[in-house]
Amino acid sequence: MIPDIYQQHPSRPVIEQAAVDRVTNHGDYARWQAALDALPEITPDSFSFGDRVSAAGSVSDRQRLRLTEALKGLQPWRKGPFELFGVHIDSEWRSDWKWRRIASALGDLKGQSVLDVGCGNGYFGWRALAAGASEVVGADPSVLFYLQHQAICHYLNRLGRWSNFLLPLTFEQLPEIEFDLVLSMGVVYHRRDPAEHIRRLYRFTRPGGRVLLESLVVEQADGLVPETPSGTPGRYARMRNVHMIPTTDMMCQWLDDAGFLETAVITTSPTSTEEQRRTEWMTFESLAEALDPRNPYRTVEGHPAPIRAAVMATRPR
Ligand SMILES: C[S@@+](CC[C@H](N)C(=O)[O-])C[C@H]1O[C@@H](n2cnc3c(N)ncnc32)[C@H](O)[C@@H]1O
Repeated sequence: MIPDIYQQHPSRPVIEQAAVDRVTNHGDYARWQAALDALPEITPDSFSFGDRVSAAGSVSDRQRLRLTEALKGLQPWRKGPFELFGVHIDSEWRSDWKWRRIASALGDLKGQSVLDVGCGNGYFGWRALAAGASEVVGADPSVLFYLQHQAICHYLNRLGRWSNFLLPLTFEQLPEIEFDLVLSMGVVYHRRDPAEHIRRLYRFTRPGGRVLLESLVVEQADGLVPETPSGTPGRYARMRNVHMIPTTDMMCQWLDDAGFLETAVITTSPTSTEEQRRTEWMTFESLAEALDPRNPYRTVEGHPAPIRAAVMATRPR
């Protein structure tokens, strides 16, 4: 469970214990662990870390049914897609679309260490390995996403020792180590103090290394603070805990202020109801239910519909 990069670190026992405690103390842990335990033992013949991260091989109908049932016990699958022995986990998000938007700017990751802050179930880690990364460390406090990653590893790890690690911890719990590339995607608008988040990203980036900051963005000059009348974070597109949605200029300014150089916006795109949608693997409300039925350019709260941007920058040598 512990990434190679933290093996010799003095904080290793502390993070190991924190990870175990977080997982085993979760109220749904027994149910989710039972789903993991029900995964059939099958060794794949091949794998792919392409758009659909997959493991393939021949299985009986009975095994495929058991596999489907066990994987459905780990719903909702928000990030993906994955495919295991012909079972297509059609996740809520087409995360492969996001990867396509950022992949050319990331370029060849040969030999690079990557930190993915708020990594979900580790989907992008597989894509980063395929792009050449030597080790990926994902941090995400969601216990369910951690167990989804375990389910994928249950099969992929039979074909090799992949260095796509996931720690079920917050970024703030990680001991400081520098990486060649740091990804923070979909996290900054959940942070009460975005500038502090960016300064922390800086400390985890090696001199000469790069950061990619991805966020919901708005066009209005001061960003969007969806507060309730009492001043607590309000909802944006039915999402809780959104403190502030910046403009792309603000994202660049935060990175500049933290000390990064060569800040550049690499993509801006509206999120469509084809990219984020309800599926058989995520049966709750999705983007379509979060948009105003009379005006798809507005959320149900009356805010501008989601647009996302990614900005890249380099830490000076
Ligand atoms: C909107 S999702 C984005 C997931 C993925 N990075 C992507 O771009 O598709 C935000 C993720 O950040 C995680 N998260 C929230 N607070 C965090 C923190 N303090 N440290 C690390 N991850 C966090 C959540 O559990 C969630 O999986």
